[in-house]
Amino acid sequence: MNNLVYSLTVNGHVHEVRDAWVGESLLSVLRDRIGAYGTKGACEQGECGSCSVLVDGELVCSCLVLAASVTGSSITTIEGLSPDGELTDVQRAFIDAGAVQCGFCTPGLIVAVHDLLDENPAPSPLEVREALSGNLCRCTGYGRIFAAVEAVIAERNGTVSEEADA
Ligand code: FES
Repeated sequence: MNNLVYSLTVNGHVHEVRDAWVGESLLSVLRDRIGAYGTKGACEQGECGSCSVLVDGELVCSCLVLAASVTGSSITTIEGLSPDGELTDVQRAFIDAGAVQCGFCTPGLIVAVHDLLDENPAPSPLEVREALSGNLCRCTGYGRIFAAVEAVIAERNGTVSEEADA
């Protein structure tokens, strides 16, 4: 069936999707129909996390979600985390820590970090590793990514040491 018409609410805007196939993934619709190119497609099997978005506040791999099944939901992509174009503190920390190399994994990681810190403002290093275990990065070795997350946690919780701040 290729003649579905439905609406998706993405980053607060309603998008009409026409002539859609019922089996189209949310990832595919976000990128190919709505132009939300920040959401990356890589494994398309729910293994790498590069397509991570929030659906009604829940972190999902958009490659595993049928777009037509989330017509009544609020979808947030990486673009929706900073609608005014200002970098979020997580994005800034990734840059400052050198946690971006090719950048392919970065949008999914940023969405996942925001989700983690919204739910747990002060996660332990182990909890950070566990929360991000579904986001694969082939470039960085993860050390700088974890350093970026720790910097955000310290800044948000007011525990930045003077030495680290200097
Ligand atoms: Fe290249 Fe993570 S920066 S995959």
